[in-house]
Amino acid sequence: MKRINIIVLITISLAACEPLHKGDGTSPASDGSAGGAQLFVDNCARCHQVTGQGGPAPGGLPAPDIRQLTKSPAELRQIIIFGFGKMPSFKDSISDAQISEIADYVAAQIERHAQYR
Ligand code: HEC
Repeated sequence: MKRINIIVLITISLAACEPLHKGDGTSPASDGSAGGAQLFVDNCARCHQVTGQGGPAPGGLPAPDIRQLTKSPAELRQIIIFGFGKMPSFKDSISDAQISEIADYVAAQIERHAQYR
């Protein structure tokens, strides 16, 4: 019984170390925009999902799969600043720097996704 507890503990502590392995090329944050990833989760994922794949958005159209788009960071910035159709504008809720971080993150996701097209 004791031994099982120790094994469980070790497994849990190893799992807790996982985020330290950022930048190994396999985690979504490995493009260097970890801030953008977190900002995307905080501001966009409730409609576009954490993965960006989209789906039914609360009270609106289905949110599109942003990974399938072909948009530059500048175009993405415009969409985040002014909104797009039923998607809300973010210019009053997050800073300009945060908008840029999200735009860069989404652009990186588009690029990653393009490799598998
Ligand atoms: C309240 C739900 C909601 C949130 C939050 C939201 N979106 Fe959207 N988004 C949508 C919907 C719905 C559309 C499709 C709008 C349409 O076609 O009229 C969309 C469209 C888009 C598009 C595609 C525009 C195109 O050219 O087709 C991009 C890019 C986008 N969203 C990025 C983001 C980013 C980045 C965030 C976070 C800052 C975000 N969205 C937050 C609902 C949302």
